[in-house]
Order: sequence, then structure tokens, then C-alpha cells
Amino acid sequence: MPSIDLTGKVAVVTGSGRGLGLAYAHALAAHGAAVVVNDVDEAVAEQAAKSVTEAGGKAVAEAVAVGTGEAADRLVARAVEEFGRLDVLVTNAGILRDKVLWKMTDDDFDAVITTHLRGTFTCARAAAVRMREQGEGGTMILVGSPAGQRGNFGQTNYAAAKAGIAAMARTWSMELARAHITVNAIVPVAATAMTETIPAFAPYVEAMKNGEPLPDFLRKGEGFGTPEDCAALVPFLASEAARGVTGQAIGIGGDKVALWSHPQETTAAYADGGWSPDTLADVWATSVGAEPQTVGIPAPKFPEA
Ligand SMILES: NC(=O)c1ccc[n+]([C@@H]2O[C@H](COP(=O)([O-])OP(=O)(O)OC[C@H]3O[C@@H](n4cnc5c(N)ncnc54)[C@H](O)[C@@H]3O)[C@@H](O)[C@H]2O)c1
Repeated sequence: MPSIDLTGKVAVVTGSGRGLGLAYAHALAAHGAAVVVNDVDEAVAEQAAKSVTEAGGKAVAEAVAVGTGEAADRLVARAVEEFGRLDVLVTNAGILRDKVLWKMTDDDFDAVITTHLRGTFTCARAAAVRMREQGEGGTMILVGSPAGQRGNFGQTNYAAAKAGIAAMARTWSMELARAHITVNAIVPVAATAMTETIPAFAPYVEAMKNGEPLPDFLRKGEGFGTPEDCAALVPFLASEAARGVTGQAIGIGGDKVALWSHPQETTAAYADGGWSPDTLADVWATSVGAEPQTVGIPAPKFPEA
């Protein structure tokens, strides 16, 4: 069994003041990494860093809103000033502004794209510069979502950002391979401030907060659990044990870990000299259109009453 030891490694985790990011920061620190805890909310960032040090880990807080090049530079600089280097970046900071397309404002769209997509791009770019200068490889863990993989009602902005993040993970895994920097997208599902308001899950999350375990149909069937359940993946991906893992989208939640497929052609048909609208109409239903792809996140399967 490989033992996961991150001693001497330095990580930046964006949006790690609470929720999943906080669990990632704790998990990295518990395995020996020093962590720059980032959040837009300064008090929450300070408290989170304190909780990591109180648990015996190394952490400092850097409060800044990710989304700009300046913020990204500040995070990388803080890691270097405080701990001398940067080995691991987790781009986790995120917000929701859910609305159906026809009600979504430019501000709703821009706020989500700026935090998730631009935040991931700018932080990864700054980290890539530093890691390439160090010349010792590194790990980037970009946070995707089932909504980005599948599309989700009411989440134009979020689904677009998360799909873009998975696409960036695939692209950067190629661009950074020579520098031995791995880049993966993770697709977590957990009870946090972001998900506890989902009506189907709300009563179970409430029960969980009162100390009751989540039922198997959620932990196994839906892959839904606590932030700590998702956090195991982060030190693993940051470790030597995962050196060959790159360009993947990995689902994690509850009792489940899963590998997501990447988009690819599933069927094809050919017409000599190319297609016309008429020939497409003639063959669509019996050739490439015979089994259309499904969209959306499958509704939770509740056990029979
Ligand atoms: N909870 C889930 O089931 C789930 C599922 C799929 C993806 N995700 C993703 O996981 C990540 C964390 O989600 P969570 O559920 O822990 O959410 P959360 O709301 O509990 O925590 C997100 C944190 O990010 C911080 N933040 C927001 N904007 C920021 C910015 N510009 N700069 C720095 N920090 C910022 C918030 O203050 C908050 O502390 C997000 O990217 C989210 O999209 C979560």
C-alpha cells in the first residue's frame, strides 16, 4: 500500500473557508502539506486557517476574491513567502446565481463565470508559472460539477463554467505534461451550504446535522455524503501515488468514487461527397439520431416506501 505523505509540499486551496474547500485544506494538512487557506470572506478564512493549525497542521489565511490575475498572483506569492514553494493548487472557490435562461441577468452570468471559470484560469496560470520555474512538477485539482458534465435546469452560468473547467483540465494536462504537472477535474457531491437547500436532500442533511448517518441510498446510490468524504481524493491526487493520473474527471461523494467519461463521438454515418439537409432528414432517425444522448443530472432514486 502506498502511504500518502505530503510532508514538505505546499498547497493553495481557493474558497477553503468553509464547505468542501475547508475539508480539502484539513485533509492536505493532515497528510503533511502546508496550506494557504483562501476565501473572499476574511473572518471565515482566518478561522479556517486557525482550525487547521489547531488540528496540528500548517496553514495561513489569504483573504482575496479569486477571479483576477492580481488575486491569483497574491495567492501564489503568499505560498512562496510563507512556505517557500508551491506544489498543489485546488481551485475550489465558487458561488451560485441560479435562474432559468430567460431570467438570468448579465450580472448573474458574469459573477459565476468570473469566480469559477476565470478564477480557475487565473490561479492555474499563476501556479503553472511558479511550478514550471521550480522544475519539480506539481498537481492541479480543478473543481467541476455534475451540472457541468450533464447540464442542469436553472444553471446556465454554473454549468457553462464547470464544463469549461473540465475542458481546461483536459487541455492543461497536455500542456503541462512535460513539466510533470498533473491536472485533473474532480466532481464532488456533498452536503454543504451550496447543496443543503436542494429540497430532495434537505431532510437527510438536517438529520445528518443531528448526528444521524446518511442512508445507503444516498451514500452509495447518489454518491452523496459529507465534505470529508470528498476530501480523501485531494491528498491522493497530490501524492506520488497519483503521479500518472492526469487529464481525468473523477467523481467523489459518500461511499462512491467514479471516473467520468470524456465527450466523444458515439455513432457516425457517411455520405459520399457530403450531406445535404434532405439526406440528413432521410437517415437521421435510423442512423446517428437513433439513440439520442440524455441530458441533465438523473433525479435521485428514493427507496420504495
Ligand atoms: N457541494 C456540492 O455538492 C458540490 C457539487 C459540485 C461542485 N461543487 C463545487 O465545490 C466547490 C465548493 O462548494 P461548496 O459546496 O463547499 O460551497 P460553499 O458555498 O460551502 O463554499 C464555497 C466557498 O467559496 C468562497 N468563495 C466564493 N467566492 C469566492 C471568491 N471569488 N474567492 C474566494 N472564495 C470565494 C465562499 O465564501 C465559500 O466559503 C464549488 O466550486 C462548487 O461549485 C460542490
